[in-house]
Amino acid sequence: MNLLEHIEARREDHLAELKEFLRIPSVSTKSEHKEDIERAARWVAEKLRQAGLENVNISQTKMHPLVYGESLHSPGKPTVLIYGHYDVQPAEPLELWTSPAFEPAVRDGNLYGRGTADDKGQVHIHLKALESLNKTVGNLPINVKMMVEGEEEVGSVSLWDYVKQNRDRLKADALIVSDTSMLAKGVPSVTYGLRGLNYYQVEITGPVQDLHSGVFGGAVPNPITILAETVAKLHDKNFRVTIPGFYDDVATLSKQERKALNSLPWKEKDFRKTVGAAALCGEKGYTIVEQLWTRPTLELNGIWGGYTGEGAKTVIPSKAYAKFSTRLVPNQEPAKIAKLVERHFRKLLPKSVECKFEVLSTGKPWVAPYTDAIFQKAIDALEKGFGKKAAFIREGGSIPFVTQMYDTFKVPCVLMGFGLPDENAHAPDEHISLENYFGGIRAVALFYQELAKT
Ligand code: BES
Ligand code: MN
Ligand code: MN
Repeated sequence: MNLLEHIEARREDHLAELKEFLRIPSVSTKSEHKEDIERAARWVAEKLRQAGLENVNISQTKMHPLVYGESLHSPGKPTVLIYGHYDVQPAEPLELWTSPAFEPAVRDGNLYGRGTADDKGQVHIHLKALESLNKTVGNLPINVKMMVEGEEEVGSVSLWDYVKQNRDRLKADALIVSDTSMLAKGVPSVTYGLRGLNYYQVEITGPVQDLHSGVFGGAVPNPITILAETVAKLHDKNFRVTIPGFYDDVATLSKQERKALNSLPWKEKDFRKTVGAAALCGEKGYTIVEQLWTRPTLELNGIWGGYTGEGAKTVIPSKAYAKFSTRLVPNQEPAKIAKLVERHFRKLLPKSVECKFEVLSTGKPWVAPYTDAIFQKAIDALEKGFGKKAAFIREGGSIPFVTQMYDTFKVPCVLMGFGLPDENAHAPDEHISLENYFGGIRAVALFYQELAKT
């Protein structure tokens, strides 16, 4: 059997094995899932061995284990480092799932479950591509290092230390990542840009303790009101961020790039349908694609305080909280932006409240030229694997490791994602299209074969 016949013949086995992976609730943000995280790491380690990789090991870190394996038997051939993550986002709210988050189910050509698209399904694509090459060709045509981490969804906290301590181990001619999306169904894509991410949390304190809102209301500062007023001032009526200096270092798009991005087969109608809101709003003067991929933003991610239980409680709370984040684009510096945000936020607050301002994580944006020959090989492999024309795109999400690797080694980073924008990553009913899952296995296997011809 040749490579593609083998992949075709193994469809059901591959799917069954992926379901096994998806049943492990490896939610990285919750300590109650510590054992599941470890189980997922062991599962990945076993599959790396099964895919023909050696020196497979599970490294303990400050938080969640990192799995690594390699196969370095093709002297003179390129070495790739494949990266992915086995951790997933929490599945809540559970009641909004059509079938349970950790009981994978196929419906209408899609596989549903937490982690199907982000990122277990995509990690599995690489595992099965490697295994299929081994089983049909008899070996891996290139040198492969594969690293699968368990902290991506919480900001890859331990990863930077690991990269610094394992520079030689991670050194490769290219980084390959499948943790992004295609532009649309039928448009396999290579992503050459991601936004960076700074995450903030504020705690606003008014009175030192909760107070009766009848006895005290009218004379004392209400931290919820003040927080609401403050966050409302962070954008103007054109949806621009009002923080002084926020846009100072934002790179302007070249005419050519602007034209290329705006002529992609991207459908506004589909986007509106996925969003489902009555109307869209975004920074004036930019197309939606530009807003999503090339412009920085500030988004409120959560806001709470006071009484939110059943019925009424007349209280002026002592504290109010918000979580918010800024997506960053070249050439914004995360540390500089964090300072600007904090300074402006504090300046907006009246003297009647105290503010604790925390920066929970920072991450640089990434955009890189796609001139290296490897990118054309990726496009060719995607086109062969999917039988469709492939595109170069940018995206709005963030993957800290890509920036770290690029900054450390300056190697080409090939982001071939097999998710779709409407597959509900981080949300209820997350799914992956089976067409993309199997197309992904074919494309990745063909890509590695093609790389051997360098
Ligand atoms: N896979 C996503 C990133 C992504 C999604 C990139 C879609 C491009 C398109 C990743 O798992 C993720 O969710 N990243 C977080 C950042 C992280 C630091 C928590 C994000 O983008 O919010
Ligand atoms: Mn991901
Ligand atoms: Mn994610």
